[in-house]
Amino acid sequence: MKMLATIVTTTTLLLAQTASASAAVDALLDEYRAAGAGPFSAEAGQRMWSETYLNSNAPTERRCNSCHTNNLAVSGKHAKTQKTIKPLAPSANAKRLSDTKMIVKWFKRNCKWTLGRECTPQEKGDFLLHIQN
Ligand code: HEC
Repeated sequence: MKMLATIVTTTTLLLAQTASASAAVDALLDEYRAAGAGPFSAEAGQRMWSETYLNSNAPTERRCNSCHTNNLAVSGKHAKTQKTIKPLAPSANAKRLSDTKMIVKWFKRNCKWTLGRECTPQEKGDFLLHIQN
């Protein structure tokens, strides 16, 4: 129980300290909050990142890491086209999460491909915190 309390406290502190990587992320998080979402959690984003969603099209099992891998600091590979995708982590690729238009566009496409629907503001906020970590 004490262990659990320590974990909870540590997590809360970490979340409280989460500073956004960029003005673009800040702007989007504000937008999602205005839509009623939040607080956001990098842990929830990480969980969803490797969650499997089923789809009737091929590949039938779809995850964010189908194309981006679990290590955001390394390049991924597109599950269908096999094209290399540069790392998503801003620490490894400074262009990432710097342009709201890019983020909005790719969230739309990738959520539809992976989950079969658009992500909710809560999910997008959680994903952003996970990716910028
Ligand atoms: C079918 C392959 C594929 C899957 C699955 C996928 N992505 Fe992507 N994603 C891409 C490609 C391709 C790009 C853009 C390529 C580039 O900029 O190098 C991209 C770009 C992004 C970006 C833009 C980042 C930026 O600032 O440039 C975000 C955010 C993102 N993906 C999040 C996600 C999330 C969240 C999921 C799971 C819901 C996901 N992706 C699943 C292929 C995929």
